Amino acid sequence: MFQKETLKGKKILVTGGGSGLGLAMADRFAELGADVAICGRTESKLQAAVERLRSHGTRVEYFVCDVRDYDAVGRMFADIEDRMGRLNGLVNNAAGNFLSPSEDLSPNAFRAVIDIVLMGTFNCTQHFARRLIAEKSPGSILNIVTTYVHTGSAFVMPSAAAKAGVYAMTMSLAYEWAEYGIRVNAIAPGPFPTKGAWSRLMPDEKFEQFYLQRHPLHRYGEKSELANLAAFIMSDMAPYLTGECITIDGAERLQGGQFNFITQMMPRDKLKAIFRAMKEKARKGQ
Ligand code: HXC
Ligand code: NAP
Repeated sequence: MFQKETLKGKKILVTGGGSGLGLAMADRFAELGADVAICGRTESKLQAAVERLRSHGTRVEYFVCDVRDYDAVGRMFADIEDRMGRLNGLVNNAAGNFLSPSEDLSPNAFRAVIDIVLMGTFNCTQHFARRLIAEKSPGSILNIVTTYVHTGSAFVMPSAAAKAGVYAMTMSLAYEWAEYGIRVNAIAPGPFPTKGAWSRLMPDEKFEQFYLQRHPLHRYGEKSELANLAAFIMSDMAPYLTGECITIDGAERLQGGQFNFITQMMPRDKLKAIFRAMKEKARKGQ
């Protein structure tokens, strides 16, 4: 579906692009012709990532930067511009998360997640957009959120609160900055196994088994599936798409549907037989 040069002319920063989903998106962007910058706190991870990303032949640079630090983020954007020219794409992907009963959280623990996810997204978004607005240049921002922005979630409350804030930021800015030609969208991924997420959120195999059993597709997402969606959103194929949050989770978020539980009671052929019997009974007026 994608042409080799779908993202030619794009210069995209992926925060947290040294690992996991950020790296997968950066890889797809570079493969499709974009120049790519990645940032994170751990230089060794970024260096290894850049080696891989450069194989596509586009310009790829890494920047050691903690997105929680507003001034450091400002310096990073200046650096990126010096080395790569003006960015026209930003993916706010850097995040922090862990499992904890909410009553046990210290203020610092709550703040640790809010600072990376909500403040980090604000810091990068504002520095990015100010430059575009001053130059009257269009651009695209993609925020990686979670499916629980709509529902909240037990045991990851700081992440849910922060990501819901990012979702609100997405909708607010899409409207506010539409006249500047800046699109702002979000992706809400379901489960995509990465070292960063799984080491903090999936305690052991028993949890995984239970998790997959209740997932309607009984499988996780593939990083390439998410990267393709991100590439589409960041491309010129989607100029009218803004203010949207696209979920990619194999329908996992819909398990609250009132009669969905029936799918887990017994095999489908047995269910069908029961439904047929009910229909027959109703037809006979019993
Ligand atoms: C309770 C915890 C904790 C835990 C840290 N803290 N881990 N509290 N349970 N598991 C507390 C500490 O005790 C401390 O509070 C405060 O949080 C800050 O801890 P630091 O280790 O100093 O923080 P920092 O070095 O800034 O690290 C941030 C982090 C860490 C969020 C805690 O996990 C991190 O760097 N994460 C980055 C990568 C990541 O999380 N990736 C997963 C993304 S997956 P006190 O009071 O003791 O000082 C995702 C969605 C997945 O977001 C959805 C899946 C389907
Ligand atoms: P990950 O590999 O841990 O990615 C997080 C990245 O953010 C890391 O590269 C990390 O690098 C960077 N980062 C963290 N704090 C930072 C900071 N203060 N400044 C700069 N960079 C920072 O986990 P992932 O699974 O790929 O998650 C990527 C995104 O997808 C996150 O937004 C996450 O919430 C979202 N998501 C993931 C899943 C999933 O199933 N995996 C599901 C829903 C949503 P350093 O630690 O080196 O800085």
